[in-house]
Amino acid sequence: MRLPRFAAIAALFCLLLCAPARLLCAPAPQVATEPVSEDAAMATMAVFELFESKCNDCHGAQLTRPKGKFGYTMDLKRVAANEDFIVPGDPAKSELFRLVNEDEMPGKESKEGPASAAEKLALHRWILAGAPTTLPPKLAERQAELLFTTNSAETAPKPAQSLLAKTLAWIGRFHPASTHFPVALLMVALLSEGLAWATKKESWLSCTRFLIVLGALSAVNTAALGWLNEYSGVSEVYKIHKWLGTATAIWALISAGAAIFFECREGTPERARLRGALFFGAILVSVVGFLGGVLTFGADHYNW
Ligand code: HEC
Repeated sequence: MRLPRFAAIAALFCLLLCAPARLLCAPAPQVATEPVSEDAAMATMAVFELFESKCNDCHGAQLTRPKGKFGYTMDLKRVAANEDFIVPGDPAKSELFRLVNEDEMPGKESKEGPASAAEKLALHRWILAGAPTTLPPKLAERQAELLFTTNSAETAPKPAQSLLAKTLAWIGRFHPASTHFPVALLMVALLSEGLAWATKKESWLSCTRFLIVLGALSAVNTAALGWLNEYSGVSEVYKIHKWLGTATAIWALISAGAAIFFECREGTPERARLRGALFFGAILVSVVGFLGGVLTFGADHYNW
């Protein structure tokens, strides 16, 4: 009596478990890309060739660690299906087109140089035509090869790095961990100063001083680690993060100097300036921290 009931429950459980999984695993509905006009077919081939010559080295399936975690550039179907990259029919809304059109991709480190005007135009036409993915047999064969072979260059041992360079780069990896200190300390320095202002108690000043000096030292440490960190990014966000982060460390040092060397009594202009500097510093450090988060987790990290 027991066994059949157990079996029935187990079967029901499996069914419930498998049904959604099947839905998830079901192949995505094929977008009808046929028939493709001649112009669209030409654009598709040109885009394939552009991707192969100028993107595949950094974004190819053969890489174990493709740049920007984007490692399927030759898989046109997958690229076209990624809404973050391509909005079929609308190049202006397609991030991938923007990146190539504004020469953000291929990056500056690329040997091949930026995409030519003709290549950009082909990319534009391809997206406008709805990003079709049908390739002529020869290129389809080539595509299969590119998607399923491993690059010998990638598996070959990397050129030896000097011990010093390796050690410095390793130390640089502590940059993300170190960022918590300046962020928290500079924010709490502002809180301490807010309490000083609210209570008019002179004793808060020593607390502010302590926090801002520690905050400034940790900001310098974090900026230095950031410079040691081997990050191969080329995006605008990265550049802004790097320079704004450096500026924040300098700003924090100046604020700490002001807190130490001036007689910052309540009601004096020096104290008002210190407060302004702290406020500005807290904003700076938050913006830099946020941009660092964007680099690691993406701009949509805080989406609801
Ligand atoms: C020299 C290496 C290199 C080449 C060549 C290169 N990229 Fe990139 N790409 C990168 C790096 C590095 C990132 C990550 C940038 C970042 O996060 O700041 C990236 C990021 C991207 C992203 C964003 C990925 C994401 O998920 O946000 C896209 C899209 C992209 N590249 C497209 C291209 C295209 C298209 C080409 C060729 C026209 C190309 N890249 C060529 C290095 C390269």
